[in-house]
Amino acid sequence: MELLFKKPSNKAIKAMANASFELGNRERSNEYTKLAEESIKSFTNHEHSRVLCSGNAAIMVAMSNMKGPVMIPNQGGWSGFIKMAEFLGLKLIRVPTKMGVIDLKVLKDHIKQNNPDSLFITSFAGYMAEQPVKEIYEICEDHDVILVEDASGSVGDPQKNLACGDHAHIIVASTGYPKIVNVGSGGFISTNNVKFFKDAHYLIKTVKSSPVICAGLVEEIKKAPESLTKTLKACEFLKKEFKSEKNKSVLHPKKRGINLALSLDEPKLKAKELRKNIRVKGGGMITVCPRYDRINQFAICLEVKNLDTQCLEKNNLRKIVKIVEKTI
Ligand SMILES: Cc1ncc(COP(=O)(O)O)c(C=O)c1O
Repeated sequence: MELLFKKPSNKAIKAMANASFELGNRERSNEYTKLAEESIKSFTNHEHSRVLCSGNAAIMVAMSNMKGPVMIPNQGGWSGFIKMAEFLGLKLIRVPTKMGVIDLKVLKDHIKQNNPDSLFITSFAGYMAEQPVKEIYEICEDHDVILVEDASGSVGDPQKNLACGDHAHIIVASTGYPKIVNVGSGGFISTNNVKFFKDAHYLIKTVKSSPVICAGLVEEIKKAPESLTKTLKACEFLKKEFKSEKNKSVLHPKKRGINLALSLDEPKLKAKELRKNIRVKGGGMITVCPRYDRINQFAICLEVKNLDTQCLEKNNLRKIVKIVEKTI
């Protein structure tokens, strides 16, 4: 079994190489930027978009519009939310969740109690379980809370539940690797409210992306629906294959996700063994928990999202299951 870490497609690499020859040509640079912005808008259904130098830069731009307090899930979010709020001096409120997934009643109560101006979530809690984004958006709308969805893991959702501007005021995403739009670098932000961009005009200018990344993004985003669908399917298959035992169980077994978490004791030790037994050329696929970005309990995550989708055939997935069951 050869597992490969995800890389940008040859088409994207070629497009970036070609664009690099045109650096300094303002007209061509603008064309690359415009094309990338159009692609993003057609995917997120938002009217305005900007390509930025990273996902965290997109979070920074989004948060620069907030006066605070900023609400985030108590686990399964992205640590950049916390870092950026601290950097901007904004008060943070952590809403309790069910292993990262937001409970709608709890959210409503916490919003009423704390009066935040925004809620930052990732489309998938810890990449492992879909958030009920539409329902969260309804609550935010009713209470004048700006919903910011970090869609780094969900661009191109065929169900249009996630990364869809119809139910997110602002969408941010990283296009660094290994992400669903896997350019290797960069990020983006989109919204229907152009005032967000006007107010953050200078910051956006400061953290804008290069035309080279824009050229790569135009190619990579076309592949997002297929890449996401294959990754979701592989995770669904894996979740079914893992047998729950006394000392180990799959978390969120029925929810859509692009990685999967197994709760177990001594995750650090087990991860060390697993990294030896599951080799990934060019990177890795094991994360140790507890960690805010995934889940606040002892567990390991199998980061299926890190793998080249060509490796996600059933034979390989079955082999991964066998190795994991033997190791832990
Ligand atoms: C969900 C999520 N959001 C944002 C980021 C930050 O992206 P970047 O590395 O492009 O700043 C990451 C990075 O891994 C991420 O996983």
